[in-house]
Amino acid sequence: MNNSHVRIFDTTLRDGEQSPGATMSSSEKLEIARGLARLGVDIIEAGFPAASPDDLEAVRRIAIEVGNALPGDDRPPPVICGLARANQSDIDAAWEAVRHAARPRIHTFLATSPIHMRYKLRMDPEEVVERVREMVAYARSLCADVEFSPEDAGRSDPEFLYLVLGEAIKAGATTLNIPDTVGYTTPEEFGALISGIIAHTPGIENAIVSVHCHDDLGLATANALAGLRAGARQVEVTINGIGERAGNTSLEEIVMALHTRRQAYELETNIDTTQIARMSRMVSNYTGIPVQPNKAIVGANAFAHEAGIHQDGMLKNHQTYEIMRPETVGLSRSRLVLGKHSGRHALKAHLEEMGYSLSSDELNRAFERFKELADKKKTITDADLEALMEDQAYSSEEVYSLDGLQVACGTMGMPTATVRLRGPDGKLHIHAAVGTGPVDATYKAIDAVMNVKNTLLEFNVHAVTEGIDAIGEVTVRLQAENGQQSRRTSPQSDVARARTFGGYGADTDIIVASAKAYLSALNKMLLSAGRHAGAAEVRAPGVMEAVGEQ
Ligand code: KIV
Ligand code: ZN
Repeated sequence: MNNSHVRIFDTTLRDGEQSPGATMSSSEKLEIARGLARLGVDIIEAGFPAASPDDLEAVRRIAIEVGNALPGDDRPPPVICGLARANQSDIDAAWEAVRHAARPRIHTFLATSPIHMRYKLRMDPEEVVERVREMVAYARSLCADVEFSPEDAGRSDPEFLYLVLGEAIKAGATTLNIPDTVGYTTPEEFGALISGIIAHTPGIENAIVSVHCHDDLGLATANALAGLRAGARQVEVTINGIGERAGNTSLEEIVMALHTRRQAYELETNIDTTQIARMSRMVSNYTGIPVQPNKAIVGANAFAHEAGIHQDGMLKNHQTYEIMRPETVGLSRSRLVLGKHSGRHALKAHLEEMGYSLSSDELNRAFERFKELADKKKTITDADLEALMEDQAYSSEEVYSLDGLQVACGTMGMPTATVRLRGPDGKLHIHAAVGTGPVDATYKAIDAVMNVKNTLLEFNVHAVTEGIDAIGEVTVRLQAENGQQSRRTSPQSDVARARTFGGYGADTDIIVASAKAYLSALNKMLLSAGRHAGAAEVRAPGVMEAVGEQ
């Protein structure tokens, strides 16, 4: 491999999924993994398989479906990686999940900073070295590609790191990842740490050095770039920078920094930058975590020019105020000249061009929805189709689905919503409720049927494209009530926390989109609590405004 190549290791599905509210269903994870493969990432960290049987299964599905070459595709499939703490059962779970991929990887980690060894692990440095030796060797006995991370390396003694990393290499580690777990270091310190590791770790020439930075001080991208400049050739990133606390280094920032400032870094990646905007939207919609408008590269304002003097400059020459073209990150998506008379074949061909490969059932559903949309909207863009496909992916894992919705609202009376939901038993459940507005009334009526106690933390609406007939997208974030805690173990802690769930819905009617978003988050909650069987039977007594069931 040429030495100016930087491997992009995407951990959106693992560290990204550790962000509060980012819980994704396994079909959403699979869709994201497919998107990451299209984007051209080298390694996908697909999850933490020891967290729960569902997590293991989601990683296994990705290993099978994304980690193997598709017929006719001559690019190598991405490496599929599973995270494991440094113990045998986690490593066994990771191997069980990734072994179906053509290029599997096990990533194991153990903390090396004095504070973590003493208070979290309660282990002596010698015990840590011994455990690393044993567990890296064990992982290597199962898998030829093993990554080791000394957790909290940013606050570890560099001399101790040289020793631990040297032992990891001897035991068979092929990639050494250096995490600034708590986002504490400065770019100068982190660059020097990587240079020191490269200069002093025995056997380092046989391994790839990787960097993994967190954004607690807003330095994650700067630190990762300093690490690359010092000689690291893998960088661990997430889409939109989501991740624990303030998040991780964001993929789009690293890729576009290397791309736009090629002469400054002289490094390159395999990323197809035109897929960036689409991945950003997909991850935001699936996690329910909106992208801040001023976020570099993918924020709504990243390419907007407001000041008159800037607009004037742009009209004269876009380079006056623009260092990258929006098309480079996939922002100006083509108008699709498919209309209500277009056939299934044309839709299939266009979706394939956009990277969606659908089964015939999925195509039938997509076509039906495309026709409905074409009846309401004159021009359908790629962005509309993406919204439609994302909405479809959401509704594929439904416990309750929206069968009908009617609202009455305005200045003359009480906002009232009637919802008809199809339940897990196949029956239709109809309820009506009054609220402070049409969305509130709709959510109350849905609550009356599903009885999943929750608090609405966030509600966002935005239009996919310009124009009054635009599709509206709604994302919500809900917190489970009644003590529903995480049933999963997180890599860094066994402490259960109240879970939050994101939901997404798209429709030309924003009340319908709002209902779909709410339902999708509630469905995730039900599925995660294993409550869907018979959920209809646990409806709270005395719910108001119940008008009947069929
Ligand atoms: O931040 C961190 O230390 C991690 C490790 C598991 C690599 O995410
Ligand atoms: Zn991390």
